[in-house]
Amino acid sequence: MSDFSNKVVVITGGASGIGESVTRLFGERKAKVIVVDVNLEKANDIIVDIANKGGKGKAFKIDVTNEKEVDSFFNQVEKEYGAVDILVNSAGVVSTKPLLEINEKEFDFVISVNLKGILNMCKAVFPLMMKQKEGSIINISSVAAKKGGGIFGNAIYGASKAGVIALTKGFAREGAPYGIRVNAICPGPTETPMIKELMSVRKEQIIKSIPLGRFARPNEIRKNYI
Ligand SMILES: NC(=O)c1ccc[n+]([C@@H]2O[C@H](COP(=O)([O-])OP(=O)(O)OC[C@H]3O[C@@H](n4cnc5c(N)ncnc54)[C@H](O)[C@@H]3O)[C@@H](O)[C@H]2O)c1
Repeated sequence: MSDFSNKVVVITGGASGIGESVTRLFGERKAKVIVVDVNLEKANDIIVDIANKGGKGKAFKIDVTNEKEVDSFFNQVEKEYGAVDILVNSAGVVSTKPLLEINEKEFDFVISVNLKGILNMCKAVFPLMMKQKEGSIINISSVAAKKGGGIFGNAIYGASKAGVIALTKGFAREGAPYGIRVNAICPGPTETPMIKELMSVRKEQIIKSIPLGRFARPNEIRKNYI
C-alpha cells in the first residue's frame, strides 16, 4: 500500500461518487486531502468523517468552470500548503439527451464542466508543479469517449470526454519536461449518484452491454491509480 503521508491531494468532484471514493481513500492513507466541489455541505461531511478517523482535510466550494475562483483557490492552497502533489479531476456532469433534444444551453453546460473545468484546474496547478519539478494529474474521462456516448450518455457527453483524453495527452507532453505526469482514466458505467436516474430506467439494458455483467463500484475505479 502506497504511503501518502503529508502529500497534498486536490480532488475536484470529491464530494460524490468516484471523487468521494478517491477522497476517502487518500484520507485513510494520511494525505492532506482538499476537496473542491460545488456541494460544500457534502464535501464538509466527508472531511469531518476523515478527521474522525485521524486524517486531515479541507473542503472548498469552487465551481471548476470559474477561472477566477480556481485561480484564487490555488493561490490560497499555495500559501497554506506550499505544494500540490496530486490533482484528481473528477468533477463532471452527464447528459443523456439525443441529438434532436439537446439544446445550446445544455451543450455549453456539459462542455464547460467536463472540459473547461479540467483546463482551468490544470492551467492553475501547472505553475506550482513546475516549480516543484514533479506532480501527478489524473483526469476522469469515460468509456463514452471511445464509443461516442451510446447507452451511457449521449454524443455530447462522449465528445466532452474524448476532449478530456486529448487535453490529457497534450498536457502530458507539456508537463513531462517538468516531471509532471498527466493521465486519464476511462471508467465504464459506475454505480454513483450521477447515473442513478439512468439506472432506474435502463438498468437491465445497460448491464447487458457490460462484460462484467454489473456496474462498477467507485472503489474499483480508484484502484487504477491509488
Ligand atoms: N458514474 C459513471 O458511470 C461514470 C463513468 C465514466 C466516467 N464518469 C466520470 O467520473 C467523474 C465522476 O462521476 P461520478 O459518477 O462520481 O459523478 P457524481 O455526480 O456522483 O459526482 C460528481 C461531483 O462533481 C461535482 N461537480 C459537478 N459540477 C461541478 C463544478 N462545476 N465544479 C465543482 N464540482 C462540480 C458534483 O457536485 C459532484 O459532487 C465524472 O467526470 C464522470 O463524467 C462517471
